[in-house]
Amino acid sequence: MSNNLLKGKRGIIFGALNEMSIAWKVAERAHEEGAQFVLTNAPIAMRMGEINTLAEKTNSQVIPADATSIEDLTKLLTQSQEILGGKIDFILHSIGMSPNVRKKKEYTGLNYEWYKQTLDVSAISLHKTLQVAKDLDAINDWGSVVALTYIAAQRIFPDYNDMADAKSLLESITRSFGYHYGVSKKVRVNTISQSPTVTTAGSGVSGFDKFISYSENMSPLGNAGAVDCANYCISMFSDLTKFVTMQNLFHDGGFSATGVTTSVMDKF
Ligand SMILES: NC(=O)c1ccc[n+]([C@@H]2O[C@H](COP(=O)([O-])OP(=O)(O)OC[C@H]3O[C@@H](n4cnc5c(N)ncnc54)[C@H](O)[C@@H]3O)[C@@H](O)[C@H]2O)c1
Repeated sequence: MSNNLLKGKRGIIFGALNEMSIAWKVAERAHEEGAQFVLTNAPIAMRMGEINTLAEKTNSQVIPADATSIEDLTKLLTQSQEILGGKIDFILHSIGMSPNVRKKKEYTGLNYEWYKQTLDVSAISLHKTLQVAKDLDAINDWGSVVALTYIAAQRIFPDYNDMADAKSLLESITRSFGYHYGVSKKVRVNTISQSPTVTTAGSGVSGFDKFISYSENMSPLGNAGAVDCANYCISMFSDLTKFVTMQNLFHDGGFSATGVTTSVMDKF
């Protein structure tokens, strides 16, 4: 289904690791909606080579970039404008990684070097991307930047560990940079707070299967899937949402506004 919502728009999509990735679905939908974009991921994620399949399918080029490296981001934003033939209209930040989660450190026994990496990769990378973009004046007026987040930024989900802190920081950067970039260039910055979704990053959280069904039962509409998340991203990149900025937008089937459901009550 295409409504040409992104016709003529140029973008950069971070974070398509494999077919399950939310960014993968966003790339497929953005292509259907007429956008041209560059795909990017950490150099280490290129080894699997799956991103090349997506690049072929969406007629796009791939530029490896570690989102924590100012040098890589500068190259990415410069080369993307050359490849796409002008300034950028939209960016998807779909990046998350915690060494503490990967190596099963508890929240009360964190390795602080890894904690810094969690914050750098999963949150400060958004600030770095925005700052490099602003310095290069790489984003068109009314451009739209979306980062993906999770409700553990507002409420405790014990197994989400230090990623919760990273998401809080990510959402704060969204508000703060959104203010400055809005005033100077009318660029908008938002986060979409997505339901738990089966992906490589998602499955790294322990007890994820049980958690997905809990969330499903606690959401009046059920969990929102990856393709629906992609659709929401497309609407946020389009001109139909021009005055939405600095927001954390829940895309969670109603989970965030629900105290309890009868389906959960019935289990007691
Ligand atoms: N899956 C879920 O349940 C869920 C729920 C809410 C929010 N999110 C968020 O959605 C986003 C995408 O995750 P996903 O679920 O599609 O999983 P995913 O594992 O497919 O995507 C995470 C991506 O981050 C990339 N990445 C890691 N370190 C990087 C670095 N240094 N530089 C550049 N890229 C790097 C990975 O290579 C990968 O492509 C993340 O921000 C995640 O926290 C996921």
